[in-house]
Amino acid sequence: MQREQWNSRTGFILAAVGSAIGLGNIWRFPYMAYENGGGAFLIPYLFAMVTAGIPFMIMEFTLGHKYRGAAPKVFAQLGQSTGLKLEWLGWFQVFIAAVIAIYYVAIIGWAISFFSYSFSQSWGTDTNAFFFTEYLQLGDNSPTKLGSIQLHIAIPMAIAWAITTLAVYSGVKGGIERASKIMMPLLFIMVLLLIGRIVFLPGALDGLNYLFRPDFSMILDAKVWSAAYGQIFFTLSVGFAIMLAYSSYLPEKSDINNNAFMTVLINCGFSILGGIMIFAVLGYMAAEQAKPITDVVSSGVGLAFVTIPAAINLLPIPYILGPVFFLALVVAGISSHISIIEAVVSAVMDKLALSRKKSALLVCGFGFIASMAFSSNGGLLLLDLIDYFINNIALLSSCLIELIILTWLVKIADIRQYANRCSEFAVGKWLEICLRFLGPLMLAIILVKNLINTLKNGYEDYPIADQLFLGWGLIAVMLFIAIFISVISNHHIEEKK
Ligand code: ALA
Repeated sequence: MQREQWNSRTGFILAAVGSAIGLGNIWRFPYMAYENGGGAFLIPYLFAMVTAGIPFMIMEFTLGHKYRGAAPKVFAQLGQSTGLKLEWLGWFQVFIAAVIAIYYVAIIGWAISFFSYSFSQSWGTDTNAFFFTEYLQLGDNSPTKLGSIQLHIAIPMAIAWAITTLAVYSGVKGGIERASKIMMPLLFIMVLLLIGRIVFLPGALDGLNYLFRPDFSMILDAKVWSAAYGQIFFTLSVGFAIMLAYSSYLPEKSDINNNAFMTVLINCGFSILGGIMIFAVLGYMAAEQAKPITDVVSSGVGLAFVTIPAAINLLPIPYILGPVFFLALVVAGISSHISIIEAVVSAVMDKLALSRKKSALLVCGFGFIASMAFSSNGGLLLLDLIDYFINNIALLSSCLIELIILTWLVKIADIRQYANRCSEFAVGKWLEICLRFLGPLMLAIILVKNLINTLKNGYEDYPIADQLFLGWGLIAVMLFIAIFISVISNHHIEEKK
């Protein structure tokens, strides 16, 4: 069967950018920059973008374009050409995508709820109590003591799943590309409108000053570099099967280098816009309440669902700016969710030779059921714990293994030559240096640090048993199943001979 293809270059770029720009840009980037040295964070961030982000993107676009398959197929073929069994790495990446997809959708569900509340700001004045107690109904639950499914969370999650399913079910051209062509321009317009209004409010520029004022004393801190690299891989959707799947639908004649540069630069530019939007709001809020900005800033989910609602209460025309903000969050989230699910669906299609429609229904059906755990009282805690292990251990390991295999076992020069042959402008030897030396070195240092830190101190105050079961245990099971599938597939190949 002929592999599906993107209809146009713009369609592909919009889909790739739609995947990259997500929840990670709007609330993760701003507080990460703030916590890690403000303007000085931009130095490790841009360094990571140039030395890891762009090279990784060129590498994944090349692999997808060359081997025309989802991650397991790409790695299986790479393995065949080198005499190694590598399919497991593709499945490990697909499982990372699957796990991220089932908790990512919960955050989109919360954003949909808050979109509906934002018209009348029905979250009231105590937004902290509203989010944790009234909305999530957290109570004394834990990641393993989940309580029951909360319909008011499950329903918006089902809406998000319905949109994702429809896009993936309708195919690359008719679904994903079409959705991206609507969502991406809409997202940019909404964010620019918000910024255009907010930066003129009193105090907004002080907020920006806080975000961008460089604290150079932090530049030597390993934590800051680790944060920058972790953010780059997550935000660019590389290392977890997504960009491999998307680039496998590129037509024969495609400009790999140019597409990769555009995707990375638009995504990172958008992160800066996200930072400007959030910090202008925080600056205004601090000025309104006559508090220092450090008193109003918060991180993680607290930023989007506690601080921003409180800021919206104070904004002029909150019934317009509030819904626009949450709609932007929903759109950014769904366009990424579509890509995360597509990474899984395309792998299922390749492996089981199922039709797209059947694979989409199968993957989204299972995903929907599994994601219901995150709509329970303890859902936030479950999400927090799994997210930490998946992002800091599984994803970084997968990126490091991919780099080592590709640059030390396969001829990296071939990748560069292939990319350059397909592109209008050629990339120089620096690509090989980044992929072969700098990338693996930085990733290895960060990963070892994360491993030692997590083994020694665990993550937050979660019970050790929960961390063993849902953190280390989950990663071990993912790896085991990935290797198992890979082994039985090789067995089939051998039998057929
Ligand atoms: N790249 C996506 C994000 O940043 C997953 O949210």
